[in-house]
Amino acid sequence: MNKRIQTLMHQLPSQSIALVYSGRLISKTADQFFPFEVNRNYYYLTNIDQPNHVLVLIKGTEEKAFLFVETRTKARELWEGKLPTFEDYHALSSIDLEAIDTIENLTIFLEHQLGVTRDQKYGNIVNMLLDLSLSDRMTSPEVVFFEKYEKLYPELNILPLQFILKSMRTIKDELEVKPLSHAIDITKVALETIMKNMHTFQNERDIEAMFKYEVHKRQGGIAFHTIVASGHHATVLHYEHNDAFLNKSELVLLDLGASYGKYNADISRTYPINGKFTPRQKALYELVLSVNEAIIDWVKPGYSIQDFKQKGKDLLAQGALELGLISKLEDITKYYYHGLGHHLGLDVHDVCDYDRIIEPGMVLTVEPGLYIEEEHIGIRIEDDILITETGCINLSKDIIKSVSDIESFMNK
Ligand code: GLY
Ligand code: MN
Ligand code: MN
Repeated sequence: MNKRIQTLMHQLPSQSIALVYSGRLISKTADQFFPFEVNRNYYYLTNIDQPNHVLVLIKGTEEKAFLFVETRTKARELWEGKLPTFEDYHALSSIDLEAIDTIENLTIFLEHQLGVTRDQKYGNIVNMLLDLSLSDRMTSPEVVFFEKYEKLYPELNILPLQFILKSMRTIKDELEVKPLSHAIDITKVALETIMKNMHTFQNERDIEAMFKYEVHKRQGGIAFHTIVASGHHATVLHYEHNDAFLNKSELVLLDLGASYGKYNADISRTYPINGKFTPRQKALYELVLSVNEAIIDWVKPGYSIQDFKQKGKDLLAQGALELGLISKLEDITKYYYHGLGHHLGLDVHDVCDYDRIIEPGMVLTVEPGLYIEEEHIGIRIEDDILITETGCINLSKDIIKSVSDIESFMNK
């Protein structure tokens, strides 16, 4: 058993069985599937990225983890290639080799643990915990499990598993910070290539294409829909069209990230397309930057997420008032209409409990912005930080963001 499974095991009620399904391929058209996305809870516990697997944990008179995996016929291997072996799965997950079996044997295994003729090898199992957190609730296999086992074993208490996993995933361990930092490093290199080549781009999509190329060639994935929003398009927070022609005198807001080992970077930078900020763009940009930096200096364990959000909003409002952009502090909502940040990890807006006080090991984004449609200006500056005992480490500190650094880099 690996450490994460052990930690989860400790938090299960006694005499329990827990099931985590890895997910399945979803049809896209009559003859194609969407790319497979593993259930992040399954991946977190096993390090395995494959569909149609079930992790089973038993906490009875003994604690034991089992894995049920898909196998492939020789004929299917000719089309789709070989799957990892049981030894590979053992190496990835540290689940005992003899506790790995094929998915076809899951039903009979459960019958041994839970049916009328159960062998009580682990005592009398009375609880079943299922991960019911996925958004496709109506059709997800977990719901199918739920309905099936509820009928089959009516005396079982069926309980949600996702709250324990959410709480574990909120605090990142070392094995998580490493790939996340690598995803940020790949994002950095891609942003530098974009800055260097900005003068060659005609359309937002040229920037998106270069970003994807630079990420993929470094074995990265794309963390979320890339946002390349020039001029007034940047006032739409999740603008994903990325198809407008660039007006050289405007700014372009990039909100993007590479992923690595399923961990995501989430970075925003805003650049002058012609390599030089106008005085007005610079004044607004430096206001957003000052808030981004002030929050990174200020944040530490003990504050609530609500304090964090409020602090960002207050600083932006104060700065906007001083600039004359607004005449009353409360008018800031006209130009700033999102939260200051979110947890980041295996999901971009990572699972978390927003009532939980900020603690060491959390990874958060810090992403103040200003969006002034009438001036065709949208600015967001987003960094990814790791909370420490005394403050935070800015994991994306090497991605340049001051006006002078950006201008000199773009005009080298
Ligand atoms: N890229 C989405 C966000 O920053 O939350
Ligand atoms: Mn973002
Ligand atoms: Mn974000």
